[in-house]
Amino acid sequence: MRYTNRWKRTVAALFAGLLSVAFIAPAYAADDGNWRRGRIYYRLVCTACHKDMANKTISPMSRTIAEWKAYVATDKHDPTGKANPSLKYYVSQSYRADVKDTNKAAAKFIAIPEDELLSDLRAWVVHGAKDSDTPARCQ
Ligand code: HEC
Repeated sequence: MRYTNRWKRTVAALFAGLLSVAFIAPAYAADDGNWRRGRIYYRLVCTACHKDMANKTISPMSRTIAEWKAYVATDKHDPTGKANPSLKYYVSQSYRADVKDTNKAAAKFIAIPEDELLSDLRAWVVHGAKDSDTPARCQ
């Protein structure tokens, strides 16, 4: 059987389609982060400590999407100086390792690379921000 030009074009288009799914989809997902995983970490690690140390909760809906993005990008955690000044510190693998015996979320997510967990966390606070479609409290 001889391959017609039309058939070749169809096959080429199929390949192009598959390639774009293979390359574009994960890049998009990585940028987006997994907000469900971020939510678990936020509640069990971040909120747990805010209750403990500051006797308060800091809900995702306390800030706008833009404020959260800036907050995560500048990596300034706590201006009062009571806790570590870096937000990344609290998603780092070394911090997770330090608290894993007493914190289930830290133990469960111990193997996730730091950048990935940070984008998950960012995805969660953006998802629950004041001006999002789904504003979220802490619980
Ligand atoms: C070991 C304890 C601890 C952990 C873990 C922790 N924080 Fe905090 N965080 C604090 C304390 C203490 C403050 C200061 C609270 C106050 O205003 O008195 C704070 C303040 C904040 C603030 C408010 C900063 C501001 O500018 O007003 C945000 C937002 C925040 N934390 C986010 C997070 C997120 C997100 C995580 C998890 C990745 C996290 N924190 C983990 C202790 C912690």
